[in-house]
Amino acid sequence: MTKKIDIVLGIETSCDETAAAVLKGGERLLSNVIASQVEVHAEYGGVVPEIASRKHVEAIDLVVKEALDQAGIGLRDVDGLAVTQGPGLVGSLVVGLSYAKACAFPLNKPITGVNHIHAHLMACFLEEENRPEFPFVGLVVSGGHTSLYRVDDFFHVELLGSTRDDAAGEAFDKVAKILGLPYPGGPVISKLAQKGRSDAFSFPRARLPETPLDFSFSGLKTAVLQTVQKIRAAGQELVVEDICASFQEAVVDVLVSKTLEAALEHKVKWVVAAGGVASNESLRKRLMTECKSRGLGFSVPRPIFCTDNAAMVALAGHHQLMNDMLLSDDADVYSRLF
Ligand code: KG4
Ligand code: ZN
Repeated sequence: MTKKIDIVLGIETSCDETAAAVLKGGERLLSNVIASQVEVHAEYGGVVPEIASRKHVEAIDLVVKEALDQAGIGLRDVDGLAVTQGPGLVGSLVVGLSYAKACAFPLNKPITGVNHIHAHLMACFLEEENRPEFPFVGLVVSGGHTSLYRVDDFFHVELLGSTRDDAAGEAFDKVAKILGLPYPGGPVISKLAQKGRSDAFSFPRARLPETPLDFSFSGLKTAVLQTVQKIRAAGQELVVEDICASFQEAVVDVLVSKTLEAALEHKVKWVVAAGGVASNESLRKRLMTECKSRGLGFSVPRPIFCTDNAAMVALAGHHQLMNDMLLSDDADVYSRLF
């Protein structure tokens, strides 16, 4: 039985962004507030879980109030709450879940727990144009995840393959560290790559014939490290732009070929990309052209909806709330996908 749910407050605290958003009618965004902790973690070269939890505690109340203010509503006007329940950092997730429960229960509002990955996969429905058609193959590429899914509708999501070691975003972050570039590595590497030659170095592409829809990026990272060490030891000039361009090309090649392979195998007509790495221009362009040439539809949200946000949580949550998929009073978070 579907219920009438109009206004949904979404809350996201799974990693290092404290975010809240208000969504009306399952598609119209009234506000989308994101407090990023990236500068705090940049000092350490990556996310420090304990600091992340504490920053969420500091920010959550302000962020939620700002989202409600911008939407021009109060908590009483909300028809339901959607909060990220997992996967992610446990200490970060509990801040969002506890806060959402404290908002929902005293006011008798329904509350649903959203899977962060499902939310990423549904993010392109936040866009007014070029919304995907089910079933589609979805590539989720972020700092914590690199996986392919078959998505049949808002509730049925099947894992087809995932990384055996590093996530694609993690590889960008680690290569940035090797090159002495700041965290997070993705945006800075993609910028430098524009000025470099992508065929300057031939870095490995892990194909994994036995499980072709799985990924592996640790060999690529090691190859970059060894190349850089060799150039430095020989006293040669290190053209950082060329390393960035060649590394990015290797990542994009693998992501694009495996995504297309999955689409072909599952006979879907649409491909979706999501997650922080999906804001990479080179990846977006390649997926767009390759899908087009095969007659496949392709959707990727604007970069603001690729990186972590609560709008996608509100959207996925809207459908769950309509179908009465509610959290119990004693619901807990989960750190991993099951
Ligand atoms: O989805 P996200 O904001 O957070 C996680 O859930 O991990 O993704 C962050 C990741 C980082 O590893 C960052 O380096 C990467 O996304 N990233 C990019 C780009 N922008 C962010 N990677 C490649 N190219 C980009 N333009
Ligand atoms: Zn994410």
